[in-house]
Amino acid sequence: TGPEPVSPTGQATRLDQARVAQGGDRLTNAQGTRLPDSDHSLKAGARGPVLLQDHHLREKVMHFDHERIPERVVHARGAAAHGVFRGYGTASGISRAAFLGKDVETPVFVRFSTVLGSRGSADTVRDTRGFATKFYTSEGVFDLVGNNMPVFFIQDAIKFPDVIHAGKPHPDREIPQAQSAHDTFWDFVTLHTEATHHTLWNMSDRGIPRSYRMMEGFGVHTFRLVDAEGGTTLVKFHWKPRLGVHSLVWEEAQLLGGVDPDFHRRDLADAIEAGAYPQWELGIQTFPDTPEQTFEGIDLLDATNLVPEELAPVQPVGLLTLNANPSNYFAETEQVAFHVGHLVPGIDLTDDPLLAGRLFSYLDTQISRLGGPNFPQLPINRPHAQVNDMLRDGMHQTAVHRGVAPYRPNSLDGGCPFLSGADEGGYVETPVRVEAARKVREAPESFADHFSQPRRFWLSMSPVEREHIIGAYTFELGKCYEQAVRERALRVLVTVDAELGAQVAAGLGLPVPDPIGDVPRVSPSPALSQVGGDWPVD
Ligand code: HEM
Repeated sequence: TGPEPVSPTGQATRLDQARVAQGGDRLTNAQGTRLPDSDHSLKAGARGPVLLQDHHLREKVMHFDHERIPERVVHARGAAAHGVFRGYGTASGISRAAFLGKDVETPVFVRFSTVLGSRGSADTVRDTRGFATKFYTSEGVFDLVGNNMPVFFIQDAIKFPDVIHAGKPHPDREIPQAQSAHDTFWDFVTLHTEATHHTLWNMSDRGIPRSYRMMEGFGVHTFRLVDAEGGTTLVKFHWKPRLGVHSLVWEEAQLLGGVDPDFHRRDLADAIEAGAYPQWELGIQTFPDTPEQTFEGIDLLDATNLVPEELAPVQPVGLLTLNANPSNYFAETEQVAFHVGHLVPGIDLTDDPLLAGRLFSYLDTQISRLGGPNFPQLPINRPHAQVNDMLRDGMHQTAVHRGVAPYRPNSLDGGCPFLSGADEGGYVETPVRVEAARKVREAPESFADHFSQPRRFWLSMSPVEREHIIGAYTFELGKCYEQAVRERALRVLVTVDAELGAQVAAGLGLPVPDPIGDVPRVSPSPALSQVGGDWPVD
């Protein structure tokens, strides 16, 4: 059978095909047997003991007992919407991905999230926000799993469990629920100074967005686009909101956290219901695909660095419009499974070590979160392109497969005996040269500069924005119990900028420490004042 027809807004219609359960005018049990009564247990007499033979009671309560699935280990709290992406065709010269073609319309599902809070936490906390987009393209699913900040805390995925352990609530008291105001978070980000840049973004107004509709999105990593002839270009993906970028002020965020902890999900759903469809332009920064994979001295494989837009302007390649709310939070927002390895021809990966770890992690967690390996068959995850894989059986298998055992070439399945599976036009990894080197557990030298870009970010802020950043650091560090952690945090801040460190120190009533000495500075940045002292400080 050929692929099912795709229409730009067709995802909701496709989901309708899965809405077969709980229809009809008669109540039944799970086996379809009619039930005249679902309100009374079967008892030995109206006031007598409940009977073990009441299978309906057992089935109903058993099912209820298993209604919850584990929440996501990170990004547990989210809100999502359906929409459509329209390509401008401006990227077609450098990527053969069909969905980037001029006026090609592709259905999408977008999930926004906070990172650290649990499913029931408040929307308006200070945190990074997830911005994950599933494109149901004619060539298969492409997921752009990004954040609302262009940089990340760490450079190597092997530290991800550590940074999340440090950021999640303390294991003894399970507090704080969803804020960065605690000792282990600050301990981690000051001992691993590569986190300084992302932490500064978190403490800026970007950490408390006004609305999901008013956030930028970033693919963070550098990706590789591949044209029809196999030519490659390195890119960073950006989402630019049509409504502009806006933030709450801290007092608003605090008040809203109390009076309306659902502020962001309500705002998104209400806007879409009212027909005020939020829109983002997808843009790319492009860089030549050189063997060094650097641009103007910036290592493109270091996810704690960005490339300033003055050096590489963002070029628009398409428009995203969110135009329909989910009708079942569980089936859509909760069961959707994004993965950075969901790629289509024309888009490829780079050797960013953070990206490599993500390729493993999402699949692994989804197997346990979504109950086995068949979650791609869930309605929200189903590709709109035809699927003809060789995967079989497993927990929650919903397909009734036909034919003989799936392997290729296969002379017994009635198809072409010589079909190898490597069909013309399929996904082929770019044959990039891999440097033959020693096996090592070490970071490249180009990952060593942890301070130039945070300083550049700080210097680019307006006076009001700086005031907010100082206020945020003072508030969050003020919640730390450990004096040594606060002092180390001040030392990091003084190393970023003397004035920033001095102001936060004044707010905390602590002396201004010396900056960290001899920190490597390899990224291009404004002139830096000379710093003295040694590191580590403990
Ligand atoms: C979930 C972004 C790094 C592991 C997510 C989600 C986003 C995201 C947006 C939520 C997806 C959704 O809405 O369902 C990012 C970005 C990263 C990053 C932008 C860095 C650039 C990592 C790393 C790891 C990781 C390094 C692990 C090594 C996970 C896991 C989930 C997740 C396990 C939960 C997935 C699920 O349960 O479906 N991430 N992440 N992430 N991320 Fe990341």
